[in-house]
Amino acid sequence: MDQTGTVDNLLTEERVFRPLPQMVRQANLSPQKCEAARKLAADDPLSFWEEAAEELYWFKRWDQVLDDSNPPHYRWFPGAQCNIVYNALDRHIETAAKNRLALIWEGEPGDSRKYTYYELYRAVNRLASALRGLGLSKGEKVVLYLPNLPETVIAMLASAKIGAPHCLVFAGFSAKALRERIRSTGASTVITADGFYRNGRVIALKNVVDEALSGEDSPWVRRVIVVHRANVQANMVEGRDFWYEDLVRHERPQAQTEAMDANDPLFILHTSGATGKPKGVVHSHGGYMVGVNRTFSWVFDIKATDIFWCTADLGWVTGHTGAVYGPLMAGTTTLIYEGHPLYPQADRFWNIVSKYGVTILYTSPTVIRMLKRFGSQYPRRHDLATLRLLGSVGEPISPETWMWFHKHIGRSECPVLDTWWQTETGMFMISPLPVSLLKPGSVGKALPGVEVDVVDREGNPTPAGKGGYLVVTKPWPGMMSALHNDREGYFQDYWKLIPGCYFAGDVARRDEDGYLWIQGRADDVLNIAGHRLGTAELESALVSHPAVAEAAVIGVADPIKGEVAKGFAVLNQTAAPSPALAEELRQHIRRELGPVASVREVVFRDRLPRTRSGKLLRRVLRAEETGQDISQDLGDISALEE
Ligand code: PRX
Repeated sequence: MDQTGTVDNLLTEERVFRPLPQMVRQANLSPQKCEAARKLAADDPLSFWEEAAEELYWFKRWDQVLDDSNPPHYRWFPGAQCNIVYNALDRHIETAAKNRLALIWEGEPGDSRKYTYYELYRAVNRLASALRGLGLSKGEKVVLYLPNLPETVIAMLASAKIGAPHCLVFAGFSAKALRERIRSTGASTVITADGFYRNGRVIALKNVVDEALSGEDSPWVRRVIVVHRANVQANMVEGRDFWYEDLVRHERPQAQTEAMDANDPLFILHTSGATGKPKGVVHSHGGYMVGVNRTFSWVFDIKATDIFWCTADLGWVTGHTGAVYGPLMAGTTTLIYEGHPLYPQADRFWNIVSKYGVTILYTSPTVIRMLKRFGSQYPRRHDLATLRLLGSVGEPISPETWMWFHKHIGRSECPVLDTWWQTETGMFMISPLPVSLLKPGSVGKALPGVEVDVVDREGNPTPAGKGGYLVVTKPWPGMMSALHNDREGYFQDYWKLIPGCYFAGDVARRDEDGYLWIQGRADDVLNIAGHRLGTAELESALVSHPAVAEAAVIGVADPIKGEVAKGFAVLNQTAAPSPALAEELRQHIRRELGPVASVREVVFRDRLPRTRSGKLLRRVLRAEETGQDISQDLGDISALEE
C-alpha cells in the first residue's frame, strides 16, 4: 500500500439510461419525493430516521433516536422495545395482507409450497411454541444449518419471535466450519434437515451435524431439530434429536412475541471471508428493522402485487435482508428456490420467473455471468414480461454484464439496481432508485440518510475521478451492533484506519456527476509502475471481450515495474483457448483501458476460485503464483461451490 491510498481510474463508461416515463409515473418514490427525502436526510438525519422508525410498530417508544456518546459503539433507538417479527408478520394479520401470499418456495425437483401471511404466521407460532416447550429461552442462540426451505424462514422468524438470536450457517459448509460457528456463538440448539437437493443430487445434512457435535472438544448442544426434506436416513439421538414435524404437529398456532430491547441481538452472521477470517457480525432488532424497512421498500419500489425473488442463499446477509426481513416487513411476496441455477438446464431461473410471474429479480453478477455464458437462447424460451425491476449485489458488475442483464432479461426496460452493502451494514447503502438515471457498472449514489465518501489514507476526500477508500461518515441504523465477542476487532477492523469513519474495505471512485464506481477490495489493489489500480476495471475490460465469461486479475511481482497484472479468463461455451486468443485478450484490455493496463499474460481456466457466496478469491490465485500454502488460513472457505 502506498502513502496516499488513492487509486487510479482507467474506465470510461459513457452509456446512460433514463427511467422510462411509466416507471416514473408508477414509482412510490417520485423524483420530487426523492429530492425532498435527500434534503431532509442531509439537513437532519436523525429526524429522517425517526420518521422511518415511525412507520413500524414498537412496544415502547425510544428515549433517543441515536446514542452516540461512546463512538464507534453507537446505539440506535435506546430505551425502545420492539420485535422485528411483529413487523414482518404479526401486524400484517390485522390488515388486508393477511390472506396475501407471503412465501413461495420451489424445490429443486420441482415441488413447490406457498404460504399466505396467515399461514406463515401460524407456522412460525407453532415452532415458537415448540421451542419454548423445549425450554429454549430469550437470549439463547440457535444455529440454523439449513438450505433454502420454507422451514428455514420459519425457523429464523420463530427464533427471533422468542428472542433467541439465530445464526445461519450455509448448508454447504463442512462439519468443521459448523462446529466452529456453534462453538463461537455458544448455541444450545441446532435446527437442520435430513438432507436437500442440489444439482440433481441429495446432500445429506444431519450426519454433518452429528460429526460437528462428536469427538472431544465438541460444542455442547442440547437440542437438534431435524426437518424432514429428502428422505435421508438420520441417526436420531434419544433425548437430543427431534423431528421438526413431530414437534410442531400438536402445537398451538398462537405464540406471544417477545418484547426485545431495540439493541438486543436479532442474529449473528459470519462474513464470507473473501479476504480474511470469518467474523461474527451481530445485528439488533431495532436499528436493523428500521434501516432495512426503509431502504428495501424504497430501492425495490415495493407494491402489494409484487413477487420478489432474491436468488441468494438464506445463509448470507442478502438472504436475511433481501429474501426474509425486507420483503416480509414490506408485506410483499417473497420467493425462494432450493436448488442450482443450472438444474436441470440453463433455463431454470427463467422457468421460475415465468411460472410464478416474478416481478422483481435480485441476484448477483456471478449468477448473471454464469447464465450469460449459455447465451440468450435460454431466456428467450420463456415469458419474462412480468419483470419490472432487476437488482444486483455482491461484487462489481461489469458494464457488459449489466448490459446483457438489462437487454436479455429486462427487455431493455427494467432498471438494473446495483446495490452496494455488506453483512456489516445490514441494509442497502448505495444504490440507484427506480427513478434514477443509470450508468452501467455504477452503484449510483448513497441512499437518503446514508453519508459516504471516498478518501485517501489521511481521510481527505479524493477529487472526482480519483479512487480511494470507501468510507461511511455517519452512523446508520442498519449498522452491525458489534462483532460477536470481539470488541477490539470491531474497532481495529472498521474504525481505526480513518478516524471517525467506518472503513468498508472497498476502493471506489466518484465521477463528475457524483456517481460511485466500486473498484474492488482494498486488499486486492494492484500497483503497476506506481499506478494503483482496482481489480474491477481490469476484470470488466477482460469480460467485455465476447469470448470471455468470467475474469480475475491479480498483481504478480516484477523486477522492473514492481508489479504487473496477470489475467485469468474462463471462456464462453463457444470459444476455445489458444495462444492467439490469449494475446488478443491482452491487446483488448490495452485498447479498452490504455497502456497503463498492460497485462503481462492471460491464462485460461475452467473456473475461478470463489467463496461459497460467489466472491472471487484472488488471494488463492496469488498464492498459486508464489507457491505459498494458504490452506490453513482459508479453512472452510476453500471448499468451493461446484
Ligand atoms: O466488496 C463489496 C462487495 O461485497 C462486499 C460485502 O460482502 P458481504 O458482506 O458478503 O455482503 C454481500 C452482499 C451484501 C463489499 O465490501 N459488494 C457488495 N455489493 C456490491 C459489492 N461490490 C460492488 N458492487 C456491489 N453492488
